[in-house]
Amino acid sequence: MENKEFFYRRLHSLLGVVPIGIFLLQHLTVNHFAAYSPESFNKAAHFMESLPFRYALEIFVIFLPILFHAVLGVYIVLTAKNNVRRHGFFRNWMFLLQRISGIITLVFIAWHVWETRIQIGLGTKELGFNMMEDILSNPFMFAFYLLGVVSTTFHFANGLWSFLVTWGITVTPRSQRIATYATLIVFLAVTYIGVRALFAFV
Ligand code: HEM
Repeated sequence: MENKEFFYRRLHSLLGVVPIGIFLLQHLTVNHFAAYSPESFNKAAHFMESLPFRYALEIFVIFLPILFHAVLGVYIVLTAKNNVRRHGFFRNWMFLLQRISGIITLVFIAWHVWETRIQIGLGTKELGFNMMEDILSNPFMFAFYLLGVVSTTFHFANGLWSFLVTWGITVTPRSQRIATYATLIVFLAVTYIGVRALFAFV
């Protein structure tokens, strides 16, 4: 029983980086083509759409890993009382923010997938620059996307920090401090890429 829980927690941790984290980087990079021109974005988006084994990739590399990570993530948020770990003030805050950003990210991803990928699948919308331009022209939706993207990039970068601890890569206080700065740089870089793309659509 305990072994099983250990295994699921390790799988949860791993999936947060591979493939979900990698997919996030790829997705935000493709979006960033919007910062060059609508045509660049359409070219990049249609290239992704034309990949071979598209449905298998979407299901096994994106949907199922996120579903597993999100379901266990919600369970962890609701049940884990492990915030009594003796960390400093800063790390306790990061621990709490990891959970809050996980929930915001879940709501955002669910809505985002519904209004883009699922609508495209149903044939009610067409993939392209104009689709995102339409969505983001509403100031409320723009604010929601801004919150959603920053929440996701924070969750990913701060998750990288705890991933390194979970897998025993950063053990000493010194290496964990270095990881704090490294993941801060990851957060700033990935957030810049994600947010710059949002502004390109308006
Ligand atoms: C793009 C989407 C997401 C990415 C890239 C991502 C990435 C990560 C990463 C890298 C970790 C660190 C794993 C570790 O501590 O070893 C993590 C932890 C966590 N994630 Fe996510 N995640 C995403 C979505 C979600 C969602 C939707 C939820 C749902 C609530 C969630 C809940 C959590 C929780 C609770 C933890 C902390 C686990 C712990 O401290 O033991 N995540 N995530």
